Amino acid sequence: MSLNIKPLTSTFGAEITGVDIVSPLADDDFAAIRSVFEVHGVLYFPDQPMDDDQQVAFSDLFGPLERTVSTNPAGGSPFARQSNIDIETGERIPLDDPRMAYQKGNYLWHADSTFKTVPSLCSVLSAREVPPDGGATEFVSTAAAYDALDDEMKVTLEDLVVEHDFAYSRQRTGFQLTDTQIAELPAARHRLVRVNPETGRKSLMIGAHAKEIIGWPLDKGQALLDDLLVRATENQAVYRHAWRTGDVLVWDNRATLHRATVFDAARHRRIMQRTTVSDMDVEYETN
Ligand code: OGA
Ligand code: MN
Repeated sequence: MSLNIKPLTSTFGAEITGVDIVSPLADDDFAAIRSVFEVHGVLYFPDQPMDDDQQVAFSDLFGPLERTVSTNPAGGSPFARQSNIDIETGERIPLDDPRMAYQKGNYLWHADSTFKTVPSLCSVLSAREVPPDGGATEFVSTAAAYDALDDEMKVTLEDLVVEHDFAYSRQRTGFQLTDTQIAELPAARHRLVRVNPETGRKSLMIGAHAKEIIGWPLDKGQALLDDLLVRATENQAVYRHAWRTGDVLVWDNRATLHRATVFDAARHRRIMQRTTVSDMDVEYETN
């Protein structure tokens, strides 16, 4: 099979057609997809409607799947569900329900699972039901953001370690985790500068869960993290994905950030099913 690859922006992202990712993939087809992933950071596969088992089979080719934190509506399963639909009843979740407040965290630029000791390699999101308008997802490249830094800044960042904390990022959107949930998710430390082991390219591990720089005063560290986030998300290419049912996106959590955008959740249905692959290569810092 020969993949057709079309860039999504001038610096990152690729639309891939000419391959069926819903059925089992031949080894060399997956190898080709994997190399596009390492370089481009976001993969868009149009028109590949998949069910849960097919999504697990495809995602599993990238590596072991996470189990979702208990705070997510699909907690304990291999899925994270971004949706305004109650799994049990199929009805819309009321806007003032804590489950909707919880999902507001996705409006902040983030990479998935940076708050875990074993962070994530990539996420796979399949669009099961999409609203007629709104609910796009935006992406930026933190590899492009790293490349754009001057040498002095690169030297400053080289050995820094950042603490990522899920309770912190959820508090930023007004969602208070319970003590049990906090105990389930202790903060994790990761190097600020990530090196892709395949390509050698560096990227910034930042985003909503990044709370502090180890060894720096809290406010100084947060000022630097905020500055890096602005650099990564302003004056850089942004890919805005307007979803169609059956779309599948794969993004590199080591080298990109993403955020949800609003839709009319009182009127429309949106069901996005995510699988999250662990990054087994990372040399993480022990707390
Ligand atoms: C996610 C996520 C954004 C969206 O699935 O990790 O952040 O638009 N989704 O649903
Ligand atoms: Mn996310």
